[in-house]
Amino acid sequence: MWHIRGEGGDAGLPKLETVVGEIAARMQSREERGNVATYIPELAKVPIGQFGMAVVTADGETILAGDAETPFSIQSISKVFTLTLALGKVGDALWAKVGREPSGNPFNSIIQLEYEKGKPRNPFINAGAIAVTDVLLAGHQPREVLGEILRFCRFVSEDETVAIDEHVARSEKQTGFLNTALANYMRAFNVLENPVDHALGVYFHHCSITMTCRQLAMAGRYLAFSGRLPSRGVTVISSERARRISALMLTCGHYDGSGDFAFRVGLPGKSGVGGGIMAVAPGKASIAVWSPGLDRHGNSVLGSLALEHLAKAMHWSVF
Ligand code: DON
Repeated sequence: MWHIRGEGGDAGLPKLETVVGEIAARMQSREERGNVATYIPELAKVPIGQFGMAVVTADGETILAGDAETPFSIQSISKVFTLTLALGKVGDALWAKVGREPSGNPFNSIIQLEYEKGKPRNPFINAGAIAVTDVLLAGHQPREVLGEILRFCRFVSEDETVAIDEHVARSEKQTGFLNTALANYMRAFNVLENPVDHALGVYFHHCSITMTCRQLAMAGRYLAFSGRLPSRGVTVISSERARRISALMLTCGHYDGSGDFAFRVGLPGKSGVGGGIMAVAPGKASIAVWSPGLDRHGNSVLGSLALEHLAKAMHWSVF
């Protein structure tokens, strides 16, 4: 079913639109979907039976399927955007604050921080993302930094309606005991340099940005297309930086499920506990999938499966 040939696609590949439509139909009828995140009470309210998918190709073709226009909480996917901004701000000096190795531990684990003197393993685990947010705060007020992050999301998605869900942000703050512990721990080692509540406030809010699959697939284009937005001919970051961020997505983007995601899908991808995944097929397409049911690592069950089918059918694996 995933290897339809001769339907007019390039080099004998199946037609992308057909593949995406078939995947969405398959996913929508699947019963096994994992569980929605409950540790953020607001996310526990999201109905599990949803699935959306959006693919944007290099020539600007946009293919949508299922609930591709339904906004959802992007959660940890926002860490890709804050990493991009922090690298833009301080360049390679960022790596003094945060490492570049997979953690092999859950996204909210504190255990490695003690061994490694408060320096988080990578920018995508919670500790690493809080440290990245702290770098963005240097010399700025939380409100300014949040504005900068939101403006970046709107710019790369070419959509001014991207917004923060204040209910989710409040819900995160009220139950964010582990993140508060991580932040205080890093503050004790001077990895965080700004007030802990500033770093946490911005972090909780950027995790609470809502986007649709369409917006997210648009937003990932700068990573898929060597740092550029093909539609506008604008360079967002250098191609080298796009390659490096993509490498981190591949090795760390799914936490202790990153190896399995690379094995099955073979694309750089970043997940969030809202059930979204932003993935890139370098030079080919930017992809967003969303289904709120998660596996035990906090990654979308149907999202991963849909990407596995898509990469296989289109021969998009980077390997
Ligand atoms: O801090 C948290 O736990 C959430 N705001 C983000 C975690 C997350 O999305 C992990 N991703 N799969």
